[in-house]
Amino acid sequence: MYTNEEMIASIKKVEANRAANAAYEPVRMTAQEKDDILKTYHPDYIESEFSTLKIGPNKGEKVPHELAALLQANSRIDPAKIDLEHPAYDVDVLVIGGGGAGSSAAIEAHNGGANVMIVTKLRIGDANTMMAEGGIQAADKPNDSPAIHYVDAYGGGHFKAKHELVYKLVNDAPDAIKWLNELGVEFDKTEDGTMVTTHGGGTSRKRMHACKDYSGAEIMRTLRDEVLNRGIPVVDFTAAIEIIKDDEGKAAGAVLMNMETKEIMVARAKTVVIATGGAGRLHYQGFPTSNHYGATADGLVLAYRAGAKLLYADSLQYHPTGAAFPEQIFGALVTEKVRSLGAKLVNVDGEVFMHPLETRDICASGIIRECKARHKGISTGDGEGVWLDTPMIELKNGEGTIEKRIPAMLRMFMEYGIDIRKEPIIVYPTLHYQNGGIDITDDGMSGVENLYVAGEAVGGIHGRNRLMGNSLLDVIVFGRNAGKSVAAKYKEVKLGKLTLDHVNSFAKEMADAGISTDAVSPKLLPDYARKAN
Ligand code: FUM
Repeated sequence: MYTNEEMIASIKKVEANRAANAAYEPVRMTAQEKDDILKTYHPDYIESEFSTLKIGPNKGEKVPHELAALLQANSRIDPAKIDLEHPAYDVDVLVIGGGGAGSSAAIEAHNGGANVMIVTKLRIGDANTMMAEGGIQAADKPNDSPAIHYVDAYGGGHFKAKHELVYKLVNDAPDAIKWLNELGVEFDKTEDGTMVTTHGGGTSRKRMHACKDYSGAEIMRTLRDEVLNRGIPVVDFTAAIEIIKDDEGKAAGAVLMNMETKEIMVARAKTVVIATGGAGRLHYQGFPTSNHYGATADGLVLAYRAGAKLLYADSLQYHPTGAAFPEQIFGALVTEKVRSLGAKLVNVDGEVFMHPLETRDICASGIIRECKARHKGISTGDGEGVWLDTPMIELKNGEGTIEKRIPAMLRMFMEYGIDIRKEPIIVYPTLHYQNGGIDITDDGMSGVENLYVAGEAVGGIHGRNRLMGNSLLDVIVFGRNAGKSVAAKYKEVKLGKLTLDHVNSFAKEMADAGISTDAVSPKLLPDYARKAN
């Protein structure tokens, strides 16, 4: 419910133009226009927001200040005080993280006969996978192919993705959907059982499979049930705070910390999978986030201190449509599916100012330009945003579409008296995804032997911009991939003596570089986490 006079006056213009705007097909930007708008308005291009790393495998490269502070911080442990001789856990495969990637990895490792255990600092399913709304891409229809999917994903990422990773992503996608479907995910289907598919930004075919706008929750529900039904042990409220290596420099487990009691434990493992997710809760550049509470880049810190290289850690995704009003849901995800169903982006004067399905980085930059440079945003009191004209959806697709296809959106705004079937909503970019992460080869292994990575903690799958629906896809494809790899690998691993010498070496490198800081990492919870007394 909008009570502010300025908003109400603007809504009148949006309503007056709605029919014409719905019929209007905005032109797509040229390659040059895209380059220009990114360089001028995308947050990744604001030089003053980045620091150059002084130590570690990516020394000399820039990353956001907030990440640099964690990558070049003190360990939470004194290695001399850790009893590596008496591990609390001894497994073939240790999976760190209980989201979609960690669960998929654990299931496949279990299929391969491994004794696998998941540790997670919160609970299984408390993860960005759960928050994903719009869908999961896969080229499994007759008018599509993995090759076309490859071109879309690779181009959308500005031709920067690692070829072998995109190749795997798109080629394994149809099987990922089949696997999820057989596990019990309730995808949207027509009466004859055909999957319903839609476009996302930057897709040339309709290949977005969805479960209404609860896609991630439905996928996570299914994966969690599978993990628990198989009896795979899940140690919850337990964070990994350092990777342990053996005396040959191979990953050999992790130091764990109980989040409540702070008890320290050792898990010895022949192989380790980092599946710790994203970094939205670091709130780069002060942006709000659509991310889960635990998204604090922990995996990047663990891997970096253990000697693994990062790739594109300076590249973040600002989802164009975070909720900008009301303030109670500031930054929450307004799924791209709203635009793929026909809602357009409209400024304060009721004008459509860009194509709604440009890739995310372009779309976010367009919204920032409309507000900051053209001064055609709508003031919300605390900030500003542009209209996303949701009533267009039913104008285009008929009454009942919103309730059927995007019930989560309907419910989220209805809580605050805004009926998105009748009124537009105000949106502004929100920090959504880390495009960069830990560099891996196509078997999922990082630069540290026997240390594997899956999901959002990986860098290089999507280049410098990810398309909608390729993240739910990558957590499944690369989660399963890592699980299969470790299931093959653990059988040949003979662990040497466990050591944390690399933690001491990193501390020395910090001192030698003149870095003196009170910061400790991994961060584990955001700054505003309620602290225990
Ligand atoms: O807009 C969305 O529903 C988000 C999807 C994604 O990040 O893949």
